[in-house]
Amino acid sequence: MSLSLQELQADFKQHFSESLKPIMVRSPGRVNIIGEHTDYNEGFVLPAAIDKAAYLAISLRDDDQIRLIAKDLNESFTTNVADLKPVGDASWPNYILGSVAQFIKRGVKIKGFNAILTSDVPMGAGLSSSAAVECATVFALNELLQVGLDRVTMVHMAQKAEHEFAGVMCGIMDQFASMMGKKDHVIRLDCRSLEYVYVPFSLGSIKILLLNTNVKHSLASSEYNTRRRECETAVEWVCANKQGIQSLRDVTLEMLDEFVLKQSPEIDQRARYVIEENTRLLEGCTDLQKGDISSLGKKMFGSHHGLSAMYHVSCKELDWLVDHVKNNDAVLGARMMGGGFGGCTINLIHEDAIQPLIDIVKPAYEEVMGLPLTYYVATIENGTEIVTA
Ligand code: GLA
Repeated sequence: MSLSLQELQADFKQHFSESLKPIMVRSPGRVNIIGEHTDYNEGFVLPAAIDKAAYLAISLRDDDQIRLIAKDLNESFTTNVADLKPVGDASWPNYILGSVAQFIKRGVKIKGFNAILTSDVPMGAGLSSSAAVECATVFALNELLQVGLDRVTMVHMAQKAEHEFAGVMCGIMDQFASMMGKKDHVIRLDCRSLEYVYVPFSLGSIKILLLNTNVKHSLASSEYNTRRRECETAVEWVCANKQGIQSLRDVTLEMLDEFVLKQSPEIDQRARYVIEENTRLLEGCTDLQKGDISSLGKKMFGSHHGLSAMYHVSCKELDWLVDHVKNNDAVLGARMMGGGFGGCTINLIHEDAIQPLIDIVKPAYEEVMGLPLTYYVATIENGTEIVTA
């Protein structure tokens, strides 16, 4: 993290000398092994919380003021509990204010508070930096106000904060992973029933390497909402002909052939990708249980192909990075991760091959794309929790 917990606590004291000692909450970013753009289609995902996280130091005030500081951006924002509304475009206070608004909607009496936010989840990298802040806020307020909410309810509240204050109609994966993560496990989550299983994911010398294109996904929110509508359209077309269809989860490839393909090859491709991705994920989980990481890795390449050629949420930088690890025997699987249009690729790679790969790919990428290539080896950690200095 950019500040140690001691520094965060000291900083809080310095800025808000009048207030009580803060509680500090850590809420992580996430990776997703496979199952992209499936969550809002009631499909499956396979995410995990990681070692990069948002940290919120927060304590209640006696009045109704909300005073926020984003340490890493050197920005501050002040408002009032009675005056909660979204601010600007994709602005960081929205993640906090949107989360506060969820308590008010539930009839919880909210007090003012002071908070300092710091995070080492890179922004716009597809690692869910915003979900981390939302989950941290909901968790912290639940604790401070002693509301007694369970974690899954808090996941829903954090997701609503993103919908209502950030304007992205995201699925449930990011907030679920941040709040529910478990060290050394991925979460196989059924986004329809919200049933979930923790699957051990300790692969010895195989590591999770994230390669960051450093392309900020500026198209992401508008195109994201468009993809969501395209999937809904496919469902409507099938629904008009078949009973009992609620989402793409109920749709088969044969139904697409019959009711969608003729009307729009483009919408057919979107829906086909989602159905195929769910199959890849379920088969990939079997691979994981058998310890066949090479077979899981192949499905990750398949996922990338679908995201790029059928779902159209990749970009040339992401495609380049996947192409340039494809023939490396030490890389078992790679694909773009998250919403798309930039951000990171996730690679399953043998540990001793990481540096040699970086030595080749980094200069080549930087030369061709004119952008820096940054990278992280992610470890899988616990979800949202109180931390102490
Ligand atoms: C973003 C959203 C998630 C999910 C992914 C794509 O991260 O927040 O809900 O839809 O994109 O899988």
